[in-house]
Amino acid sequence: MQSLARNTLSARPSAIRGFATSAARSQAAAVQKPIQTKEFKIYRWNPDEPEKKPTLQSYKIDLNQCGPMVLDALIKIKTDLDPTLTFRRSCREGICGSCAMNIDGQNTLACLCRIDRGAKDTKIYPLPHMYIVKDLVPDLTLFYKQYKSIEPYLKHPNPPEREFYQSQEDRKKLDGLYECILCACCTTSCPSYWWNQDEYLGPATLMQAYRWIADSRDAFGAERKEKLQNEMSMYRCHTIFNCTRTCPKGLNPAAAIAKLKLEMAAE
Ligand code: SF4
Ligand code: SF4
Ligand code: FES
Repeated sequence: MQSLARNTLSARPSAIRGFATSAARSQAAAVQKPIQTKEFKIYRWNPDEPEKKPTLQSYKIDLNQCGPMVLDALIKIKTDLDPTLTFRRSCREGICGSCAMNIDGQNTLACLCRIDRGAKDTKIYPLPHMYIVKDLVPDLTLFYKQYKSIEPYLKHPNPPEREFYQSQEDRKKLDGLYECILCACCTTSCPSYWWNQDEYLGPATLMQAYRWIADSRDAFGAERKEKLQNEMSMYRCHTIFNCTRTCPKGLNPAAAIAKLKLEMAAE
């Protein structure tokens, strides 16, 4: 075994030399990169110390030792500087919706948000107007309860045994609706939701309500609309478009709500 290993190595001396040279070169490049310090000011609040007010804590990291996204910076801070820093994340590619937070005044996903290398600092808060579990983690209990209330699944009294067919045209009506990842960036940017969240469903839930109403296979559109036919659940939307402006997936909840209102007005 040993002689085979030696033989293999000695049979390819130039490859080894090449590898050694390129390793040394990349090591040298890493050493030469100048330090680029960036400050992150991050909202901190610990439920175990409720008497202490929330604060903004400052952390400085070298951007040349960190990935390009804000989530990379948070992970670096947690790993190297402060393991108590608390935030949600999972997929790191804009699919799970866990890392939604407010970065420099904008609700977005930390994993899709590039670090602004030009700015001196970046301020990070949890999603606004929500109860906080800890640091950057908002309590989404009400948000999910509201989502559950619209019965976000196909309802039909006699569903077919096998595939439930839909024309291509009808399927197209769901584009721009089904892609929502329920990150809550839109809902927590909506002033109507800030002031009426106990009764107003907010843009994410309303867009999903419309997603099931618009689905040609669902047989409960009339009942679904009936549930929204009151002063608070939907009509608190004043078409301000904060929700659409902030959606990190490029969706348009304000337009979905406007379509829903139009359909209900036409009936
Ligand atoms: S519409 Fe956009 S911002 Fe709102 S929950 Fe869905 S993905 Fe998030
Ligand atoms: S358009 Fe409606 S849902 Fe969107 S931010 Fe404005 S009030 Fe809220
Ligand atoms: S970590 Fe999943 S969306 Fe950011």
